[in-house]
Amino acid sequence: MDRVIETHRLSKVYRRGVYALRDVSLQIDKGEFVFLTGPSGAGKSTLLRLLLCEERPSDGRLTVSGRNLDELRPREVQAYRRTIGFVFQDFKLIPRMTVLENVSFVLRVLGLSSVQQRRRTFQVLKWVGLQHRMNAYPQDLSGGEQQRIAIARALVNDPALVLADEPTGNLDPDLSLEIMNLFREINARGTTVLVATHDRELIRQVGRRAISLDQGHVTEVM
Ligand SMILES: Nc1ncnc2c1ncn2[C@@H]1O[C@H](COP(=O)(O)OP(=O)(O)OP(=O)(O)O)[C@@H](O)[C@H]1O
Ligand SMILES: [Mg+2]
Repeated sequence: MDRVIETHRLSKVYRRGVYALRDVSLQIDKGEFVFLTGPSGAGKSTLLRLLLCEERPSDGRLTVSGRNLDELRPREVQAYRRTIGFVFQDFKLIPRMTVLENVSFVLRVLGLSSVQQRRRTFQVLKWVGLQHRMNAYPQDLSGGEQQRIAIARALVNDPALVLADEPTGNLDPDLSLEIMNLFREINARGTTVLVATHDRELIRQVGRRAISLDQGHVTEVM
């Protein structure tokens, strides 16, 4: 099995003496679907921010596909981030852009031709069931629709790894399960998925491996 994420005694201290993560050692293999769970303040978002290189570890090692993230130079960080699809709890769609523009934006940055951009964007919008809303603006969509757009955007450049921070935090239980089914489909196509959620009922329903954090420590690996 190829290892996608590996941490070894990873720690993060924001303020002196206060550990957001402490001695976290875990492994996630290619093709896995893993939940990261634990109460508020456990360190879930911190681990995801470290994985995105938005924060640097205070101690320990963090590797993604064999690369030590602490050794990436700024330019490499940008290229690295584009290999990851990220889904935020509050969607972070750009209000002045249409659905189509929000989703295709990264493809433009990557320099794909406009024909390629449209083709790929239609494909992912169709997949999340929202191709008929491509000319709408985010504020004209429901919360669940916005979240599906955010997922389409995260997937449009076909990332090997998808990270999501409380992607169903603002959704009701039925919609949450629907969103999880999208992640399951992504995963079935070979993408490694790591989802942070405090929703243990949702984890039970989806039935995948879960890593529990509490006060920065790994407390349980299922
Ligand atoms: N930028 C920051 N500066 C200082 N402390 C921070 C910062 N971000 C997080 N923390 C602290 O680090 C700890 C872990 O926070 P984190 O956001 O990772 O938790 P979480 O598990 O995502 O919680 P939630 O379920 O509420 O989102 C908390 O004690 C938090 O107060
Ligand atoms: Mg969080």
